[in-house]
Amino acid sequence: MGNIGNYDEKYSSFRWKMSEQELSYGKDGMFNLAYYCSDLICERGHGDKLAFLWQGFKGEKKEYTYHDLSVASNTIAQYLAGHGMKPQDRVCLFMDKIPELYISFLGVLKMGGIVQPLFSAFGEDALFTRLEDAQTRAIFTTMKHVRKIRRIRDKLPDLQFVFVVNAGDKKLEKGEYAFSLAGIPRVDTFDIYKADPEAPSVLHYTSGTTGKPKGAQHVHSSIIAQHVTARWALDITPDDIYWCTADPGWVTGTSYGIIGPWSNGVTQVILDAGFSSEKWYQFIQQHKVTVWYTAPTAIRLLMKDGTSMVEKFDLSSLRHLISVGEPLNAEAVIWSEKAFGKPFYDSYWQTETGAIVITNFPGMKVKPGSMGKPFPGITATVIDEKTLEPITTPGRVGLIALKPGWPSMFRTYWNNKEMYDSKFKNNWYICGDRASIDQDGYFWFVGRDDDVINTGGHLVGPFEIESALLEHEAVAESAAVGKPDPVNMEVVKAFVALKSGFQPSADVELSIMNFIRKKLSPLAMPQEIEFVDSLPKTRSGKIMRRLLRAKEWGEEIGDTSTLEND
Ligand code: WT7
Repeated sequence: MGNIGNYDEKYSSFRWKMSEQELSYGKDGMFNLAYYCSDLICERGHGDKLAFLWQGFKGEKKEYTYHDLSVASNTIAQYLAGHGMKPQDRVCLFMDKIPELYISFLGVLKMGGIVQPLFSAFGEDALFTRLEDAQTRAIFTTMKHVRKIRRIRDKLPDLQFVFVVNAGDKKLEKGEYAFSLAGIPRVDTFDIYKADPEAPSVLHYTSGTTGKPKGAQHVHSSIIAQHVTARWALDITPDDIYWCTADPGWVTGTSYGIIGPWSNGVTQVILDAGFSSEKWYQFIQQHKVTVWYTAPTAIRLLMKDGTSMVEKFDLSSLRHLISVGEPLNAEAVIWSEKAFGKPFYDSYWQTETGAIVITNFPGMKVKPGSMGKPFPGITATVIDEKTLEPITTPGRVGLIALKPGWPSMFRTYWNNKEMYDSKFKNNWYICGDRASIDQDGYFWFVGRDDDVINTGGHLVGPFEIESALLEHEAVAESAAVGKPDPVNMEVVKAFVALKSGFQPSADVELSIMNFIRKKLSPLAMPQEIEFVDSLPKTRSGKIMRRLLRAKEWGEEIGDTSTLEND
């Protein structure tokens, strides 16, 4: 039967215990993840080591040692406390990948706040939903993005402070405060908030099939899982130069763009510039990147430029390559072996799991197209949809399920305990994805078990798109589904029935597309709009998205009576 559902519970608790010892309470009973990511590294004698090198889109660079990181994050923590901010207050970070984003992430946590990172490309509607739900008290942003906050500020009574980074002498509005690290007194020592390991730390919003986006709430002790997986799944060691291409507006950019690497005392490089293969290879060559964590969509874009582009650069520093966010197709793994002389190792996890749970870890034989096996300490399996019991037949598809209790597991959905509880069945946490396990214990991803659209590794909720579509003057009703795309795996397609008085036209299509891009984000913007007279519905009036989706994927839909009960 192979090792389906391997790693028994005894082994699992043993592993996490070991890591707790390694991360034992710091000075005076300190258990604050920001302390482990900066001050502890300094206390261990590595204050002069580079924590990160940042490079902007014009090629400009900034460098911060661990000592700099410690002082700068203290300074931000003090700045927040000085404004009367309290532990548990939600502080949103709404910025491009500038140094202040990374530093304030630690600063908020040192003050005891709950940090709420949001993707800077979000438009005002996407932003509003998430700030309203979290009752966010303060937000860090830049001049580039402050307009979006201004447009919704009146509707956000809890939002007391808007800190505008590097505003210079630009005119600010009431309740906005110019913030510059260089412009406030530096704080060498700060009385870091002594968090309970179970104290809330990070709040990441993620999309589901129904309702508004949900805030997955993490705790300080998540660091145990992020630390250990960064060390053993990403294989980062103190001598590495590590590059995580993800934006901290999403969970990969915090768990493995901040917490995992810095708690391991590694030097990371950050590129705040758009994608181009040439720029990326140049960056790897220039900084001698050794460990590279990226996403399948990026790999497929690199593949488009072929191995001839790779050959123009010296990428011999690369030692270990890992991918996350969407299915890593076998062709991409095989191409990477040809192009870089090593395969991409897949890793599977979610905003809710906080850390990698299934992966090809170093030393494992990679089966191209498989996600690998459960990380030691994680009990993972696939369960039968009806019986909710683990499937023991190799190759049979079921729902990916995890035994609850790993350290980085989300502790609730903010304001939505009911939805949180609905994710647990028969003592399993149900991830919402389908997969099978082969006779050797390798997991093979099949697809999502809901209507959420995964575009370029980013989840987009159909409900959020449909709600925004309804705000457009021409739209009577709509459905948003994922349609296949060679690079992004899926892109958004909208089916729209127009209000009377409106006729389908290229102009209306463009106007709807732009409307969504502006309100939500470029990711949520439909790449195609199909105008229809009406949408297929169940007897109770619910739109049958799955029928529309199946058509896009050329799948047989078969008996639609089951869909009616959805
Ligand atoms: C969803 C989670 C994990 C951090 C970034 C995304 C899909 C994730 C893989 C993979 C196939 C994957 C799943 C999952 N996904 N990794 N290796 N192979 N699918 O976090 O936004 O919460 O998305 O991304 O559907 O449930 P997220």
